[in-house]
Amino acid sequence: MRVVVTGGAGFIGANLLHHWAREHPSDEIVTLDLLTYAGHRSSVHDLEEAGRLTFVQGNVADRESVERTFRGADLVFHLAAESHVDRSIDDPSPFLTTNVVGTFTVLEAARRLDIPRTHVVSTDEVFGSLPLEDRGRRFGPGTPYAPRNPYAASKAAADHLARAYHNTYGLAVTLSNCGNNYGPFQHPEKLIPLAIARLDAGKKVPVYGDGKNVRDWIYVEDHCSALDAISKRGRPGETYLLGAEEERSNLEVVRALLREFGRSEDAIEFVPDRPGHDRRYAIEAGPAREALGWRPSLNLEEGLRATVRWYREHRDWWEPLIHQVPSSRGPGTASSGARKGARSSA
Ligand SMILES: NC(=O)c1ccc[n+]([C@@H]2O[C@H](COP(=O)([O-])OP(=O)(O)OC[C@H]3O[C@@H](n4cnc5c(N)ncnc54)[C@H](O)[C@@H]3O)[C@@H](O)[C@H]2O)c1
Repeated sequence: MRVVVTGGAGFIGANLLHHWAREHPSDEIVTLDLLTYAGHRSSVHDLEEAGRLTFVQGNVADRESVERTFRGADLVFHLAAESHVDRSIDDPSPFLTTNVVGTFTVLEAARRLDIPRTHVVSTDEVFGSLPLEDRGRRFGPGTPYAPRNPYAASKAAADHLARAYHNTYGLAVTLSNCGNNYGPFQHPEKLIPLAIARLDAGKKVPVYGDGKNVRDWIYVEDHCSALDAISKRGRPGETYLLGAEEERSNLEVVRALLREFGRSEDAIEFVPDRPGHDRRYAIEAGPAREALGWRPSLNLEEGLRATVRWYREHRDWWEPLIHQVPSSRGPGTASSGARKGARSSA
């Protein structure tokens, strides 16, 4: 098969490319990535060197680049996106271009070229926020969309377009909404790698507000194995809600990391909250697990241990990115060009 992944130099994309190269040794693999601040060609350098990956630098919102890259593809995974909520609050415009126009361009190319299967990767953030108090409630199949920040709204628009392309044109497209990922190759602007970088430098870890915001965490390789299962057993037009049912507050996640580094609670620094910060996301993943015959392999503690090990062994990958994290949040090497008021979070 010829498999195209958009956004392959990003966090999940790079993990998916490694997963695919390992699990599908005879497939031809191509990625289309613009290499924004979030894209790192070094994450897939080993695959390129081994002749396992063709890297195309281009914009998913550019019809010509997309059609040229997709020609002859049997399967497309669409991951390219602007993905950081805080950046969407500072400047929503690239989120609209990449996440909405980009997804439209991908769907349109898939339709014109008659691509046998396209999968659109989305997030649980499109469903809005759950109350902290009612732990029984979770996002499930049929939960209405209620995005509450520009990132989530742009992803919601993309999801609607994908369903419309299935309904209107019969495009063989599947969708997935996944919880918060963590693991290798995640930019240190996000909560877990930021906390690791801070602790590694002997500094304090910034935590938003009261730290009680809850997310449903999944180790990135488990997300990749779910995407693989969708490509095999997913039904066109279906949406799969993916999660590991590992709900933890930000504070609980940070405390688990403090234990890994042998640090005390003194290493936590509470900082002013993100505007409109969603309180809780939680996913009912049972139906997708059953439909796909898939289950996550690691719980949060095991996944965090593996992640800390990876970041300790790959300082050369993340240390050069620290300058992109604003000085108020990063481990002390931020550039003066850091974004005003930017924050780091899950
Ligand atoms: N990270 C999570 O926890 C999470 C959870 C659920 C869903 N998702 C979704 O998974 C996908 C991947 O997320 P991620 O965390 O790997 O993101 P990321 O920000 O780490 O990577 C995004 C990649 O897309 C590329 N890109 C950005 N704009 C582009 C454009 N216009 N054209 C081509 N490439 C472009 C970037 O260069 C980068 O390589 C996104 O669609 C995101 O919404 C992420």
